[in-house]
Amino acid sequence: MQTLTIIQPDDMHLHLRDGEALKAVLPFTARQMGRAVIMPNLKPPVVSVADALAYKQRILAALPEGSTFEPLMTLYLTDKSTPELVREAKAAGIVAFKLYPAGATTNSDSGVTDLFKLIPVLEEMAAQNILFLVHGEVTDPEIDIFDREAVFIERVMKPVLEKVPGLKVVFEHITTADAARLVMEAGDNVAASVTPQHLLLNRNDLLVGGVRPHHYCLPVLKRESHRKVLVAAVTGEKSHKFFLGTDSAPHAQSAKENACGCAGMFSAATAIELYAEIFENAGALNKLEAFASKNGARFYGLPENPRTITLVKRPQQVAPKVPFGNGDALVPMRGGESVSWTVEY
Ligand code: NCD
Ligand code: ZN
Repeated sequence: MQTLTIIQPDDMHLHLRDGEALKAVLPFTARQMGRAVIMPNLKPPVVSVADALAYKQRILAALPEGSTFEPLMTLYLTDKSTPELVREAKAAGIVAFKLYPAGATTNSDSGVTDLFKLIPVLEEMAAQNILFLVHGEVTDPEIDIFDREAVFIERVMKPVLEKVPGLKVVFEHITTADAARLVMEAGDNVAASVTPQHLLLNRNDLLVGGVRPHHYCLPVLKRESHRKVLVAAVTGEKSHKFFLGTDSAPHAQSAKENACGCAGMFSAATAIELYAEIFENAGALNKLEAFASKNGARFYGLPENPRTITLVKRPQQVAPKVPFGNGDALVPMRGGESVSWTVEY
């Protein structure tokens, strides 16, 4: 049977939530990832260093006995963030600030209304060498939801990179050929995270034969031609600029299967297995380790994980549902179906 041993991966974009939900989802990530960059869009959001350090303690307390998993903490950028906060964050070991344009996605009400008013804050991030993580979608109601990432590139991403050339930017969960091209053409200060769903699925998987609420996430799935470019980007000549970030974003089944369903897919249960499938289908299994375990660490200025994990080419059934605390259930990506790889724990 085919096996593949790689340096333990990191998940550079993860939603862990809080309380009972945190306890329910954290073990899935902690058993396969060495570290994860923890998104700050709690209710209320993680806006101060004290909030982030308290959240980190709650995560560490929820870890299974003996786990060596390390959460990498981020702060939620708001209109009120200051250069002093950036210095304080750097000193406290916070790895990044996350931009949610106000209203762009789940729990983004406190997001930034005009990023160009925060240029001094971005300049301080560049000076402190702290990363700037970007949810790259405009929220202008005039702009079609399928075009919001491409328009963000022209209206925000390019001007910001020009105004603050030293800023280290992660274009998060990219979904379009436009974003892949921007990253490939930009300097080495610009990289991107890519989710399993945007590498595996297209918008037909969301809409053909009935609305599939469990395939609804933001940025929304795009057409097949974009998916193909993303696969080419993570396996191609400039693949060192792309890394694993699941954007695993759990919501209760009742909140997904709803007249106004929440955005977010829960992929943490079989994250590295899904990526292994993608790289295998692309004939690029030899590029999986760099994508999952090296490129992100390098961009974040971190050492590679000391352990390894072993994947076996043996199909596994993904549970149709998993408990999500407080009696709620969670439907994982591929729930009730199989994934062609299995991690040996
Ligand atoms: C995320 C969530 O639920 O927190 N949802 C999603 O669709 N990806 C928020 C985000 O990352 O946009
Ligand atoms: Zn996210």
